[in-house]
Amino acid sequence: MAERIILEEKANKVVFREGDVIVKEYVPSHPKEGVFNEAHIHACVEDSGLPIPKILSVGPKNGGWALTIEYVEGKTLEQLLTEDPEHAQEYLERLVDIQLEIGSCHVPKLRNTLSKMEEVIKSLAEIDEPTRYELLQRLHGMVRHTKLCHGDLVPSNVIIREDGSWSVIDWAHATSGNAGADAAITYLKFSLEHPELADAYLQTFCDKAGMALSYVQKWMPLVAAAQLARHKEGEKALLEQWISVVEYQ
Ligand SMILES: Nc1ncnc2c1ncn2[C@@H]1O[C@H](COP(=O)(O)OP(=O)(O)OP(=O)(O)O)[C@@H](O)[C@H]1O
Ligand SMILES: [Mg+2]
Repeated sequence: MAERIILEEKANKVVFREGDVIVKEYVPSHPKEGVFNEAHIHACVEDSGLPIPKILSVGPKNGGWALTIEYVEGKTLEQLLTEDPEHAQEYLERLVDIQLEIGSCHVPKLRNTLSKMEEVIKSLAEIDEPTRYELLQRLHGMVRHTKLCHGDLVPSNVIIREDGSWSVIDWAHATSGNAGADAAITYLKFSLEHPELADAYLQTFCDKAGMALSYVQKWMPLVAAAQLARHKEGEKALLEQWISVVEYQ
């Protein structure tokens, strides 16, 4: 049997490699529906023809549920940014090019970004009623698009193979919707994990997409509210700051 190499360990799952497959094993308390939903979204995106690894199985493992996915040989953009920080701008450009290529696809079977966000904002216990009202007003003012949005396009989810070709993993949050929202999510993640690169990312995205900075900014309180629902330690202060902008903008 192939050696097991642990790649990531989080409270709700462990990700490991075993030969030419990746196993994403969730803890028993993680909802079965969430794991099957991730597999469903991933399978829908596979049909788009984008170069993503195939889901091979969903099955029971150690009392919980696990996804088995093809292993992609290469380095993540996260690794490349760490190993070779002088070329950070080139890696940001690569990330944006990939994001725009993803956004040129349509996977209409996926939930729309606007309806998913509306559901999350309505159920968010952490925000007060006036803020919820402002957020929903803003959401309702957005035009509904149907571009494929990854929903968590961060450098650790992009793999570059030795021949330079790319692959993208972690499709659990993908929706059909607005590229500006997807860019706002990536910008938010940069602000949390690589603040020194956040503004350069946003500028690169707006330049390449031909999108006004103010349009991406409109999404920021909305994506921050959606991220708040994931209850990640250490993110709360920044997210609340982003959300509060909705009240005076
Ligand atoms: N199919 C794959 N091929 C190669 N490496 C992978 C693959 N899937 C995951 N990895 C590696 O494992 C790491 C963690 O995997 P993954 O992104 O699926 O988990 P995660 O980021 O913890 O998930 P989530 O964002 O849903 O919490 C990735 O950053 C990547 O280095
Ligand atoms: Mg990931």
